[in-house]
Formats: sequence, structure tokens, C-alpha cells
Amino acid sequence: MADPPYLCATRASYDTVAADYAELLRDELAAKPVDRAMLATFAELVRAEGARPVADIGCGPGRITAHLCSLGVSAFGVDLSPEMVTVARRTYPHLRFDEGSMSALDLGDAALSGIVAWYSIIHTPPNQLPEVFAEFHRVLRPGGHLLLAFKAGDERRRLEHAYGHAISLDVYWLEPDRVAELVRHAGLGVHARLLREPDETEKGPQAYLLARRPVIG
Ligand SMILES: C[S@@+](CC[C@H](N)C(=O)[O-])C[C@H]1O[C@@H](n2cnc3c(N)ncnc32)[C@H](O)[C@@H]1O
Repeated sequence: MADPPYLCATRASYDTVAADYAELLRDELAAKPVDRAMLATFAELVRAEGARPVADIGCGPGRITAHLCSLGVSAFGVDLSPEMVTVARRTYPHLRFDEGSMSALDLGDAALSGIVAWYSIIHTPPNQLPEVFAEFHRVLRPGGHLLLAFKAGDERRRLEHAYGHAISLDVYWLEPDRVAELVRHAGLGVHARLLREPDETEKGPQAYLLARRPVIG
């Protein structure tokens, strides 16, 4: 079956910007202590969950995958954009990166101890998020953890230009309460949420959500 238009637009846009995105974002985490704290909390939680790997879904150029690995997590990346996967493999040749979509992951049931989706659900139309969160629930082992980062708000913004290129991409700013409700509806327990005020590089507040697949259920 052909991919829906939003997936085609997302893939094409990130294929176009991949190299410049990687360059511009390479050291971004160093200036974001709250982001690092959320990733460190997630890493501590999944390290306690045993040996199954963690997927960084919508990994882009792999910087978050590599950061998770530096925290002692056995992480690999998955991304829709072949160019992003190429950049990630070139930058981190010792790490694993696969092409794939979060709406239909090529992973077995309960295959993962954790999932990070770091600013990658922001291009999925909100009415498609139940399907994505159901897929996250399927591939997480009971007790496995999910960390989401996204832009907090309630609007769709059209991006026609980014990272020095003409593109055509929708960005959805999402209400944290609504995301929490959808995550719960997929069968995951939400156990922490954080709203961070924007820094000078950002256009609005940033949201983080930690959830867990119940050990029984
Ligand atoms: C804003 S970038 C974030 C990349 C990376 N997480 C980071 O923080 O550097 C969004 C990424 O999500 C990927 N993406 C968007 N929708 C996706 C989907 N349905 N499945 C897999 N990857 C997706 C895009 O290709 C892009 O690389």
C-alpha cells in the first residue's frame, strides 16, 4: 500500500535537509541541560529494565541515539528518511540505524526495553497518533519505557523553508494533556511530564512525557 501523503512529504523534506540539519544540530544538546536531564532519567529507567535494546524512533542524524549509548543504553536508530539514515551511519559507523516508519515498525512484539521519540511525532497528524502509540505499546516489553519530546501547543504550522532549503512540511504543536490521554489510551501508564519554557532559539514551550508499558497488561 502506498504511504499516506504526510509520510511522503516528511520523508522528502528530511531527505532534502539531512546534511545541514545534522551540522546545525550537532552540538545542540550541550546547550540544553533540561533535555539532557530527561534523557538521563530515561537512561536510568531503561538500564534497570534488562538487556533488550532501546529504539530511538525518528532518530534523524543519530545524535540522540549516540547520546543514549554514551549513557550506557543499548540504543539503535530508526528513521523514515533514507538520507537521515545515511548521515547517521556515516557519523556513527559503530551504531545501528534502520529505515522505517513509526506507524509500522519492523520489530517483533515486546522487542524493546525502551523507545525515545525525540521531536519525531511532530510531523504525524494528531488523528494518526493513536496508531503510532499502539505500535509503541506493541514493541515495548511489559515494564518498558517511552520518552517523548515535542513542541507544546495546539496548532499546525506549515514549514516552507528550513535549514537553508525549500521544503514542504507540517509541524504539529501538541497539547501535553491530549498527548498524555492518547498515550494512556494505547495502554501505557504516564508517570512524568515536564513543560520547559522556550529558550532563545525556540518559538514556544517544549514538552516531555515519560510513560511505561505496565508489567501486567
Ligand atoms: C525534528 S527531526 C528530529 C530528529 C532527531 N530525533 C533529533 O532530535 O535530532 C524529526 C525526525 O523524525 C523523522 N520522522 C518523522 N516522522 C517519522 C515517522 N513516521 N517514522 C519515522 N521517522 C519519522 C524525520 O525523518 C526526522 O528525521
